[in-house]
Amino acid sequence: MEKKIQKVADILKKDDVKVTFFVGAGISTSCGIPDFRSPKTGLYSNLKRLQLPYPEAVFDIDYFRRNPKAFYTLAEELYPGKFVPSKFHYFIRLCQDKKKLKRCYTQNIDTLERLAGVKDEFIVEAHGSFAKNHCIDCDAEMETEELKKQMKSKIPTCAKCKGYVKPDIVFFGEALPPKFFDRWDEDSSSKMDLALVAGTSLAVYPFAGLPAEVSKDCTRVLINREQCGDFKANPRKSDILLLESCDKVVEQLAKLLGWEEELDALVEQ
Ligand code: OAD
Repeated sequence: MEKKIQKVADILKKDDVKVTFFVGAGISTSCGIPDFRSPKTGLYSNLKRLQLPYPEAVFDIDYFRRNPKAFYTLAEELYPGKFVPSKFHYFIRLCQDKKKLKRCYTQNIDTLERLAGVKDEFIVEAHGSFAKNHCIDCDAEMETEELKKQMKSKIPTCAKCKGYVKPDIVFFGEALPPKFFDRWDEDSSSKMDLALVAGTSLAVYPFAGLPAEVSKDCTRVLINREQCGDFKANPRKSDILLLESCDKVVEQLAKLLGWEEELDALVEQ
């Protein structure tokens, strides 16, 4: 394992080399937020109380129209504000501080990359976030304070048309934000040296398709408990597989880069 992490450190140490992150729920499990698909601990195996026809229905726009209560029951628990970033989130921030960050594509809606200090210009929240809220019928915006107030006693409802309001997280059946496609057009057509995929089962498209689109001269790294997606279906000779916990890997990586103290300082701030 150490030899493989050393390889990643050697690439990152080179002048002008930048890293592009592609991350998912597994980078936030150490913060106390469950991922989706891990057997037993994942969100989708713990939704019996919501009596859903299938687990993903909780994030399905058609199901939400008929039964918004299921999502709002979960939203109470998942709402940002209760959690602090992991070592992995701070490692992304440190890459930014070291001018080594090209972009961070995240599927997460927990906003922990932002909380760790990663700037908006580097973040692509592919599945949206809780930052804004809109009516699913007339698209009118609802302020977050108002949404939170209404959430306490009922399903948030649009003042104009009485339609249901939901945070701008991307549900199944909804389009990804234009920023996702715009940034990917930009990034995939420019120099990409290192693609670091972490904490994702690469099960949900179009995000899951990105590692396959990375050019052949870019080194792909997978930090995950399981081998998955294009790393399994179409492995490349140059791929580096680190099937370990995300925090453990970046701890080692930071050590090899000589960034250990700075990473610890960020975590402890
Ligand atoms: P998943 O739950 O599908 O995958 C999380 C992956 O992280 C799994 O492969 C785990 O083994 C791994 N993992 C968990 N904890 C880890 C740790 N500490 N270290 C290393 N690996 C770890 O989550 P995502 O791939 O993010 O979409 O799911 C993608 C999308 O599916 C989500 O954005 C969400 C969901 O439906 C929407 O809500 C639209």
